[in-house]
Amino acid sequence: MISKKLNDALNGQINAELFSSYLYLSMSAWFSNKSLSGFANWMRVQAQEELFHAMKMFDYVNERGGKIVLAAIEKPQNKWDSPLAVLEQVAQHEEHVTKLINDLVNCALDERDHASNIFLQWYVTEQVEEEASVSDVLNKLKLVGKDSAGMFAMDMEMAKRVFTPPAAE
Ligand SMILES: [Fe+2]
Ligand SMILES: [Fe+2]
Repeated sequence: MISKKLNDALNGQINAELFSSYLYLSMSAWFSNKSLSGFANWMRVQAQEELFHAMKMFDYVNERGGKIVLAAIEKPQNKWDSPLAVLEQVAQHEEHVTKLINDLVNCALDERDHASNIFLQWYVTEQVEEEASVSDVLNKLKLVGKDSAGMFAMDMEMAKRVFTPPAAE
């Protein structure tokens, strides 16, 4: 069994992961409307990854005999000034999620729940990857600037991303 405190915190994180998915899906639609289908694809894959993060946690709570309580998912933003503004927000959002994951690990340690600590380490590692991949895209976008040929090439590059669910441990 997991403690009530950690159970509540995990339910909160499931909501945060679902919101992330929703936010990235909204960004994907924004890019689609701008005819940047590669960026739209990249954000769509990002949304799928977040859904995977939520479901992995959902399964864990059930596995530990916890209680899943789903809350309302906040309405995501749907307008941005530029592709750069979108990616800057993604970077900010991922930094925020990293803080949430760190808080969850602290909660697991406070509760002396070692199994949850081990489980959450996957998310700690995942956040390192997420922050790195987003900052890579952000830096490339800054290099491209207002150059439309560069933007076109980058959009083609972004089209290549595919969602691959991590192998079951
Ligand atoms: Fe996530
Ligand atoms: Fe993420």
